[in-house]
Amino acid sequence: MERKALYAGSFDPVTNGHLNIIERAAGMYDSLTVAIAVNPHKTGFFTIDERAEIARKVTAHIPNVKVDTFEGLLADYVNKNGFIAYVRGLRATTDFENELQMAQMNALLFTGDTETVFLMTDPQYSFISSSLIKEVASLGGSVDELVPPYVAQRMKEKLSE
Ligand code: COA
Repeated sequence: MERKALYAGSFDPVTNGHLNIIERAAGMYDSLTVAIAVNPHKTGFFTIDERAEIARKVTAHIPNVKVDTFEGLLADYVNKNGFIAYVRGLRATTDFENELQMAQMNALLFTGDTETVFLMTDPQYSFISSSLIKEVASLGGSVDELVPPYVAQRMKEKLSE
């Protein structure tokens, strides 16, 4: 049976921190689906389609990674697709409480044997968040060290629109 794992988030945009988690998780399972959550109440920097296209581009070197989008309850998406693991990255202790709460809620909602699995973020990426990257880039700062080159290029294009 294929051991399928999921890594979900808003990925607006994908950062080097996300990519590090994706590369490590892809090595642990037969396949890893990177799923972009659609939040109808939130306008993003990139549209959902742009985020998916960007995520496909920056993970193209990892053969067992797929990119998808989903709307609604994460547990419904998990239950429908039979993932054995839901991977989360933990950056610092500040992430822990929220992650614990979500993992415990999801454990109630998962109908199969899906486990939430935490990977510790590589320390060089522990301060990165998508919001911080957007703020720095929109004020003219360089984020080239923090996101894949394709993301930096797409952000520059978006900001000059
Ligand atoms: N490297 C860099 N940044 C990271 C990171 C890493 N390894 N891990 C997390 N981050 C950042 C993200 O970029 C994001 O930054 P931002 O808030 O500035 O955009 C922040 O940390 C939070 O990331 P994450 O925890 O993945 O949240 P998210 O908003 O991207 O996604 C969902 C959260 C979509 C997975 C969650 O809200 C969800 O499951 N939604 C569906 C609805 C649902 O089922 N709700 C009930 C859940 S119990």
